[in-house]
Amino acid sequence: MSDPKTVKLVDESTQRSSTLPLVAGTLGPACIDIGTLYKDTGHFTYDMGYGSTASTKSAITYIDGDQGVLLYRGYPIEQLAEKSSFLEVAYLLLNGELPKAAEFASFEHDVSHHTMMHESLKNFFQGFHHDAHPMAMLAAAVASLSAFYHDDLDVENAADRKLAAIRLIAKMPTIAAACYRYSIGWPFRYPRNNLEYVDRFLHMMFEVPSEPLQMSPVAAKALDLLFILHADHEQNASTSTVRLVGSTGANPYASIAAGITALWGPAHGGANEAVLAMLQEIGTADKVETAVKRAKDKNDNFRLMGFGHRVYKNFDPRAKIIREMTHKVLGELGVNDPLLEVALKLEEAALKDEYFVERKLYPNVDFYSGIIYKALGIPREMFTVMFAIARTAGWIAHWIEQHETPGSRIGRPRQIYVGHDVRDYVAAGKR
Ligand code: CMC
Repeated sequence: MSDPKTVKLVDESTQRSSTLPLVAGTLGPACIDIGTLYKDTGHFTYDMGYGSTASTKSAITYIDGDQGVLLYRGYPIEQLAEKSSFLEVAYLLLNGELPKAAEFASFEHDVSHHTMMHESLKNFFQGFHHDAHPMAMLAAAVASLSAFYHDDLDVENAADRKLAAIRLIAKMPTIAAACYRYSIGWPFRYPRNNLEYVDRFLHMMFEVPSEPLQMSPVAAKALDLLFILHADHEQNASTSTVRLVGSTGANPYASIAAGITALWGPAHGGANEAVLAMLQEIGTADKVETAVKRAKDKNDNFRLMGFGHRVYKNFDPRAKIIREMTHKVLGELGVNDPLLEVALKLEEAALKDEYFVERKLYPNVDFYSGIIYKALGIPREMFTVMFAIARTAGWIAHWIEQHETPGSRIGRPRQIYVGHDVRDYVAAGKR
């Protein structure tokens, strides 16, 4: 029997029906194209949180949540984590293929020559209170890039789109480091273009004018690996936000700034900061049992941060890699963090617990990443900023793909209206 190519939907009350085509991708389940459903039957579909809805076709990243598979442009995340670098992965996400040596050299040259912030942009930071959250500063600073590079930007022009992508990937670490340094009252550092991407960022974060910085290669390697693992994750909330904003024709800086704000929430990228806060609150391994109990209690809004995922119902392959590297990095840096013991005990307890087993709740990418960031000397408030630096590669790749896809339309979901029926205005004195 050949695979069905259509699905028929019948409204039994009206007998109106719609024969809907199945659209197959290269991997993953085929989707029902409901584009004609409203015209044929007078109905919309309702899918709270988009649990069964594909919002776009994309050739960038593939996830099989049941098997714990993550591919960037077809390459397994495990192979990229072992063999590639963040900048090479950024090239891959943007261009679809791994670069040849000359292509990579040219990309690296371009990125390292767009790292500076406009001097006027530096002044923006002075407007923030000293304890502003770095994600607030990051979102505002990235949105304000529009003010510097908007006038000559044509989103329909491929070269302009590429330049915007290079600018964003290049400037993100500079802006991120400025957010940190502003919050601790240190002078901003200029990017050193002779350094590699991650080293350059670490220098901008930690170098002080008074003495030379000795950066550990272990720290740079660990951060590069974390950046690879966070670089893209198909249509997650922030990427979907970038695409929705991008679908209006908004410029890339505004679109990516919207992605940053979507990432900030604790259900998404903000979870890495929340995990560390939770581990610190739990404090010692003997309090793990109470935490697990609280996470299961429906009358308590405490959740195990860094656990669960909308798509992964087996394990998050990124969490597996990060878990292994946590031991290695802490060992190599000579860091003995008692929070690692709390995290290991918490994972062990949750994975044995029926509540978590039944619901297929496993540690996600954010569960161990904070312990590594902490070991690298990166403060908790900066964790989601780290995520944003890496995810910028994915966001901008999606923004470009959207602009290159023929027939792209503005994103405009419908709703089920549950408000009042039509009613007449009542004068103030008669209400
Ligand atoms: N702790 C306790 N219970 C949980 C958790 C958790 N971390 N996650 C899900 N559940 C329960 C939830 O209460 C529900 O139970 P029931 O069926 O009895 O109502 C069931 O598991 C299904 O959860 P859901 O909230 O319907 O699942 P979702 O797909 O809507 O949400 C999630 C996914 C990631 C937002 C959620 O698991 C969560 O809040 N996790 C903690 C935050 C977190 O770690 N977020 C990072 C996600 S990965 C990186 C990223 O996206 O940036």
